[in-house]
Amino acid sequence: MLERKSIVSIEDVSTEEMFEIFRVTDEMQGSIDKKKRLTSMSGRIMSTLFYEPSTRTRMSFEAAMHRLGGSVISMAEPKASSAAKGETLADSIRMFSSYSDIIVIRHPLDGAARLAAKFSSVPVINGGDGSGQHPTQTLLDLYTIYHSFSSIDGLKIAILGDLKYGRTVHSLVMALSRFDVEISLVSPPILRIPDYIKSRVQDNVKLREETDLNEVLSNCDVLYVTRIQKERFSDMNEYNSVIGTYSIDVSDVDKMKKNAMILHPLPRVDEIKPTVDYDPRSAYFKQAANGVPVRMALISLILGD
Ligand code: NCD
Repeated sequence: MLERKSIVSIEDVSTEEMFEIFRVTDEMQGSIDKKKRLTSMSGRIMSTLFYEPSTRTRMSFEAAMHRLGGSVISMAEPKASSAAKGETLADSIRMFSSYSDIIVIRHPLDGAARLAAKFSSVPVINGGDGSGQHPTQTLLDLYTIYHSFSSIDGLKIAILGDLKYGRTVHSLVMALSRFDVEISLVSPPILRIPDYIKSRVQDNVKLREETDLNEVLSNCDVLYVTRIQKERFSDMNEYNSVIGTYSIDVSDVDKMKKNAMILHPLPRVDEIKPTVDYDPRSAYFKQAANGVPVRMALISLILGD
């Protein structure tokens, strides 16, 4: 199903393909747990092209490829590459697609991954494009939820923070709209979700917008917290006016359901206090760890024979 496909938006992954990824993720986690040596990607090369900072996305893609027995070539510092000499993204992608079997790209501009997919002769995976999409983060977010609740349908999901610039939120809301869920979007008024996402999903899913976290804390099953995306603000006064608006601490978590789950794509700045880490409802480190088996599954399904 996913063979040779580029994944630029979460809309490039059907619901059926998503559950296929989750099934293979379970197998991949099993082989990690058993320290089984996998060789299915032996002889295959992945390029990771990161024009923006990354820790988890790049490292977990690379770990995933290594665990599958494949190799990785990486550009993590665009200043040290021909991008600094003025090479266009299209030309760089033409080259990298001749050097490797699959490309993972992160770029500060919305639409860069779509452009890369157009010029690449091999599948391109979007590791985050500006304020656009981050589809593989959504796959691991939904895998983490599905793994814990055994279903996505029926859940009440609150998404908190920077809903305007947060690409993880944009992909997540689009994916959740395929399920029977209630979504509460909690943000400062200036960081509400963009209208183009709202109009895409609002016919399919119950969506409400709030500014007060207390409106949703006691009845949500999942609280998905996000960082205010400082690097996307053109006006630092605007950033300073919203930073610190929400900061989850133990007293907030005490108001939540006993089996609720707190997620965050990470990195966090101050939106979740470190004391929350000790509460069993905090699942963001497990969520980040799931990035490796989910990406192993995705690579295998795209490049598999
Ligand atoms: C996110 C991103 O890059 O969009 N990080 C990630 O990939 N886990 C979220 C963020 O930077 O706040």
